[in-house]
Amino acid sequence: MSLPYLRLGINVDHVATVRNARGGAYPCPVRAAQLAKEAGADGITAHLREDRRHIRDADIRRLREEVALPLNFEMAATAEMRDIALATLPHAACLVPEKREELTTEGGLDVRGHHNTVAPVVRALADAGIRVSLFVEADPDQLRAAADAGAAVVELHSGSYCDAPEHERPALLKRLQDAAALTAKLGLECHIGHGLTYDTVGPIAAIPQVVELNIGHFLIGEAIFVGLGPAIQRMRAAMDAGRLMAPTYRA
Ligand code: PXP
Repeated sequence: MSLPYLRLGINVDHVATVRNARGGAYPCPVRAAQLAKEAGADGITAHLREDRRHIRDADIRRLREEVALPLNFEMAATAEMRDIALATLPHAACLVPEKREELTTEGGLDVRGHHNTVAPVVRALADAGIRVSLFVEADPDQLRAAADAGAAVVELHSGSYCDAPEHERPALLKRLQDAAALTAKLGLECHIGHGLTYDTVGPIAAIPQVVELNIGHFLIGEAIFVGLGPAIQRMRAAMDAGRLMAPTYRA
């Protein structure tokens, strides 16, 4: 079977981080999303955090209305965020854990431990036609719990692999590969994200079951030096080169 196309979703949160450092209107995450589209991105991701530290409610509305790409709305599994998602109707929603004091999304969602909180939110969003993913660690128990909670998709957290010293990466890559293989057996679509760079994306793109990568912080940083379009195009090329290394795919 031929490999599925690998989509690239661009996370524009940190354009809003820079904007909010001064208040005001620029740099604008909606403009970043439009440039991402021109550079060949397949989707836009934005995380509306409880404390609104980067993306704001109006950004979500504008990304939905003004950008001709599917919007992946990253959110905590709370009633407030559920209601915003239902009012906005993004293409997809990705449920993530959220702690006020964290710098970024530090680990995967404990779907197993929070089934009774997560499953009703998954159901409400899915009933509204939103494709729901759960951001989880590459842990078989969490993948089974994601399937039990009714999710269509899981996004595997690649942070530990990307942040590890070189010599520890092979074992962490193997964990992601095994988890991706299990997603296929469980009937879940597999996405991967967090911490990816030009250097770490290749082996991840080579995982045959993965169909979407979501990348933000590195690309927004790189855009300062080379511009957002060229940074995205270089990432796309690194993904494509990695994909060529994938073993033959068997669903
Ligand atoms: N996917 C999810 C679910 C995330 O929470 C994040 C970070 O906001 C990303 C992908 C993108 O991670 P990074 O900004 O490190 O590329």
